[in-house]
Amino acid sequence: MKIHIKTFGCQMNKHDSEAVVGLLMEHGYEITENRNDANVFLVNTCSVRKHAEDKVYSMLGELRKLKKKKNRIDSIVGVMGCMAQKDKNGIFKRAPNVDFVCGTHNFHKIPEIIKSAIEQKTKINLTDMDKQVFVSPTLSSRENKSAAWVSIMRGCNNFCSYCIVPYVRGREVSRPSKDIIREIKELVHAGYKEITLLGQNVNSYGKGLNKNIDFSDLLELVHEIKDIERIQFVTSHPKDISLKLINALANLEKVSRYLHFPLQSGSDKILRLMNRGYTLSQYLDIVNKLRKRIPDIRLGTDIIVGFPGEKEEDFDQTCQTMKEIEFAQAYMFKYSPRDGTTAFKLKDDVTPQVKKDRLNKIINLQKLVSQKKKK
Ligand code: SAH
Ligand code: SF4
Ligand code: F3S
Repeated sequence: MKIHIKTFGCQMNKHDSEAVVGLLMEHGYEITENRNDANVFLVNTCSVRKHAEDKVYSMLGELRKLKKKKNRIDSIVGVMGCMAQKDKNGIFKRAPNVDFVCGTHNFHKIPEIIKSAIEQKTKINLTDMDKQVFVSPTLSSRENKSAAWVSIMRGCNNFCSYCIVPYVRGREVSRPSKDIIREIKELVHAGYKEITLLGQNVNSYGKGLNKNIDFSDLLELVHEIKDIERIQFVTSHPKDISLKLINALANLEKVSRYLHFPLQSGSDKILRLMNRGYTLSQYLDIVNKLRKRIPDIRLGTDIIVGFPGEKEEDFDQTCQTMKEIEFAQAYMFKYSPRDGTTAFKLKDDVTPQVKKDRLNKIINLQKLVSQKKKK
């Protein structure tokens, strides 16, 4: 049996796909890059913005044509990841060719689900969110052979008002540090030099664990591992960046001098509506502390334009802040209303044209900043 897997979304999703590929290989499946050659199509999905979902539905449409040419059991289609978790049975309605839907808390069961999908003719929907599970990829299922992702937590408890992630990825759960360290040691033993610690909000690592440990402590433990050359992590939430963490970054020389901590907006009014838990001045205070303590640090951010209620003056404050801080890297998005989030109840009152103009403007602004920084 040959499986083709297509992954959308963030690093956490890509990492889940690596883990699933590992499980499938252990169960005797072969992974193929060529979808015409596959007996099973697996799509790992993202629902962070409508655009991400549209891409998946259009791909499922293409698969329908492919499926018509083959026998059903020879062309099983499965949807996993965040959109599977969000839309559940709804996926079968919009894409009747889909055979199974597997949510974010069940991806470790993919090999059995595929087996059942082949044996029984009914559609399968496994989308309960009872327990977060950590499954690591095998050495051969990891895409990158010198840099490895290691999951340190799953889920998110922040409930930023625009964001679907807490609903589709569930409550935040930290992985025991001994498991993390064991995995990293194995990776280093296999020749990996670079490790990226993954989580939706790594700075809040440690909550709910028996051992009293926070993210700075974890970084120190990882740093002690011999033969690691570089340690990175994503993503950080500004409200959880402590002085202890800034000191750890300054002192641990193998930790990358890049910090990605999304600002989202430069307007306090919008930050409050977004439920981000900090003001612009608190954010700037962290930037100043970081730069004072670690002069060569590079900063990265995410920005949303066109959030409900964003007036020209709010957008200007975001632009001003971007000019002032001069981020080395920025990912910028148009606000996309997500059903089920609290912001969905607000009127999406910035017109598509204004969102587009603001996005172009801020992308151009950041281009100038990045060029200047590179010089
Ligand atoms: N946990 C990470 C990443 C979350 S998703 C973090 O908090 O940093 C990545 C980015 O997508 C977010 O930072 C935000 O800028 C953007 N995003 C999330 N929901 C969105 C929405 N509904 N519309 C537009 N952009 C969104
Ligand atoms: Fe979404 Fe906010 Fe959690 Fe990031 S911190 S995943 S933006 S709710
Ligand atoms: Fe990632 Fe998209 Fe899910 S950004 S957590 S794959 S909604």
